Amino acid sequence: MTNRYFDLIDQTFYFPQEGFDIDNGYLTFNKIPLKYLIEKYGTPLKITYLPQIGFQIKRAKNLFNRAIKASGYSGKYHYCYCTKSNHFSYVLDEILKHNAHLETSSSFDIDLIRRLEKAKKIKKKEIILCNGFKPREYQEKIAALINDGFKNTIPICDNMEELDVYEEQVNGICKIGLRVATEEEPNFGFYTSRLGIRNASVIDFYKEKIADNPKFQLKMLHFFVDTGIRDKTYYWGELRKAVKLYCDLKKICPELKAINIGGGMPIRNSLGFEFDYKYMIKEIVNLIQQSCEEAEVPEPDIFTEFGSYTVGESGAILYSVIGQKQQNDSELWYMIDNSLMTTLPDAWGIGQRFILLPVNKWNNEYTRVNIGGLTCDNSDYYNSEAHENQLFLPKINEGEEEPLYIGFFHTGAYQDAISGYGGIKHCLIPSPKHILVDRDEKGGLTERLYKGEQTSDEMLKILGY
Ligand SMILES: Cc1ncc(COP(=O)(O)O)c(C=O)c1O
Repeated sequence: MTNRYFDLIDQTFYFPQEGFDIDNGYLTFNKIPLKYLIEKYGTPLKITYLPQIGFQIKRAKNLFNRAIKASGYSGKYHYCYCTKSNHFSYVLDEILKHNAHLETSSSFDIDLIRRLEKAKKIKKKEIILCNGFKPREYQEKIAALINDGFKNTIPICDNMEELDVYEEQVNGICKIGLRVATEEEPNFGFYTSRLGIRNASVIDFYKEKIADNPKFQLKMLHFFVDTGIRDKTYYWGELRKAVKLYCDLKKICPELKAINIGGGMPIRNSLGFEFDYKYMIKEIVNLIQQSCEEAEVPEPDIFTEFGSYTVGESGAILYSVIGQKQQNDSELWYMIDNSLMTTLPDAWGIGQRFILLPVNKWNNEYTRVNIGGLTCDNSDYYNSEAHENQLFLPKINEGEEEPLYIGFFHTGAYQDAISGYGGIKHCLIPSPKHILVDRDEKGGLTERLYKGEQTSDEMLKILGY
């Protein structure tokens, strides 16, 4: 028989492939016997495979360092982890084992840094990059961190006004970075990213506010292409513009030392994923080197802030198919035992694709399906139309005792934060205070506080700090 699910995968992709294999008819993930975990804990079930985190960091460091060595590039490479991708303490523990620096994106993130230092997991000399649009509280916490001896904390200014708080509150020298806003891809809803300072204003801003101010040392220029690092004219164009700006700035700002190219390194979201990490990293290093040579400025240190790349491939989530519904001749629904909307919010919110594989029944015939989540929401589904690939899974035959188990893989970045797992929030932005407003017998308004704003202690406890 050649229409088994196994044959479909075998003929369409290279299989088995890195991280995925079949053992006795059951799928394994990084050699983890998923059947064993399902039998022990039942579904729905989330898995984090911790060693993958170190693997990813080591690979990127190796590739950058090799490209640097091969081309005779004079700057160094720094791997920074952007905490917002996954803030859990067990993730940070792994990341710090591999000597990554950290990037923060909100006020509570600074509290997280404090906890890490208190637990002796980082030293005060650690490089901490503070990114994002910063409300006053975040700015003040950054200033206090620097004053408490975290001398390598670098706030990356998102706008020109941000400097005022550091000017007022930081004792002594304050190292800073500037984020330059990128132009979005032509098909996007707006032209220029809201994040960062527009390219055309950066030099004047430096001259007016920083050059003659002994408080500030501009150390880093940062940019981030939200659609990710891809071998496309658009990406190379944005990188070239940022490096040109770096070179122009460097000529008038001798203490400028680093370019930070942000996150966006892709991860495997299908078994057919092809991305040549070695080639891309080599090209990035070469482009920076060539531009610097042409402009006759020394090559900068290169920082990256890989989030998805660091943690994405460590995560998986397993469900049981608890029923099937043939809603018309061509639409078969597999109903699972949890919600896709709440466990994989990016699948719903931005049509994000994940690797989807059955855990068992690989020798059954395959069939085209839609996957339905348990909520009553019409949008709680995963299918080929929204998620770009034909969705085939094994048929469920009558009389089979074991349910079909399916897994979404490489789900380790952002899904917990965006879905609010246990009460956490994306970028650790707290839930606002909640006021109940009512009317009394005379029709007058009354109000009472239902719950105050979420505190950082509440959030950090959920995260294991
Ligand atoms: C400033 C900055 N750095 C890094 C990242 C991480 O991006 P990714 O998870 O794509 O690596 C983001 C994501 O939004 C970001 O805004």
